[in-house]
Amino acid sequence: MLCVRAPGRVNLIGEHTDYNEGYVLPVAVNLEVRVHANPRSDSRCRVYSELLDEQCEFDLASLPTPEATPPTFARYVVGVAWALQQHTGRTLTGIEATISSTLPIGAGLSSSAAIEAAFAMLWNILDGLHLERMQLALLCQRAEQVYAGVQCGLMDQAVSLLSKAGHALFLDTRTLFTQSIPIPEEWAIVVADTGKPRALTDSEYNLRRAQCEQAVAALRPLLGEEVSTLRDVSPEQAALYLPLVSEPMRRRARHVIGENARVLEFLTALRHAEQAHIRALMLASHASLRDDYEVSCAELDAMVDACLAAGAIGARMTGAGFGGACVALVEKTRVAQFLAEAEQRYRTQTNYTPRFFVCEAVAGASVCN
Ligand code: GLA
Repeated sequence: MLCVRAPGRVNLIGEHTDYNEGYVLPVAVNLEVRVHANPRSDSRCRVYSELLDEQCEFDLASLPTPEATPPTFARYVVGVAWALQQHTGRTLTGIEATISSTLPIGAGLSSSAAIEAAFAMLWNILDGLHLERMQLALLCQRAEQVYAGVQCGLMDQAVSLLSKAGHALFLDTRTLFTQSIPIPEEWAIVVADTGKPRALTDSEYNLRRAQCEQAVAALRPLLGEEVSTLRDVSPEQAALYLPLVSEPMRRRARHVIGENARVLEFLTALRHAEQAHIRALMLASHASLRDDYEVSCAELDAMVDACLAAGAIGARMTGAGFGGACVALVEKTRVAQFLAEAEQRYRTQTNYTPRFFVCEAVAGASVCN
């Protein structure tokens, strides 16, 4: 029996930048997926999810197409098998597997990427594929794009595979440069789930991505052919040229360009544990996601306000948006008081039941201890 674990994530800053070749700074947290698997002597797979009490079966020698795959967790497992097989030209080993999870589904903590990362790691070991973690992350991203139909960036898969305990993962999604950035030991990472299930996420997500591409198409005649993504546009150029771009592309681009600059500033602020600076950057990120990118919602806004009023260093929505969770940084000595106060304040604003998780930054996918 082989057991592999892969963590979920929260993103400290750098939201909706990863499909624009921008910067991100997520953290892998100790809410994770575990897969226990026994190899079979043939190419059949039977995978059971304890959380959903659902099972899926398929044959690696004749994988179902995305259209023929049930729209459940099966999409992620079959998708990863497809991406690995396409990349290596091999038929993988069949498995009898069980997925268990401490990751809440629908909270925007990327349970899908964690499932993908776990199965990629599992087959990498079982079949001796010797693929590097970044390569596995790229294949998991491909799986999600083709089998789940979400034109996602690389952040979630990369952080689930490449993180180091106690650190956030800085990723430049253009060059694939990564660097582990220590998180001050006296700070807790709190995931504050609004309890509002995410709605319309996939269609709105793909729409945002298309609008970013339209913004690039509008800017290219003004700035030159070397502009291939919003990553190539500086804040100074944005100030000059974005007024010439039509809405909503103008505001979508302003968010992405500003957010990239905020990630780089955040790196320095985090290294020096500059609380006021971190707070300002997280608030600016949230405001930009709310007003320019339009992916927040009343519950996420209420949760950010509740967290700040309850004494967080900083707070913002995290992940794709449209419901889900916020991330808050809180001094460890103040966590108990923070949790009580944030919950009470949030409940006066909405009818949803929030959940709070005080998390640690953990290492990326590995064989279970
Ligand atoms: C989802 C996607 C990521 C990223 C975030 C928004 O989690 O999977 O690639 O785009 O949304 O930052």
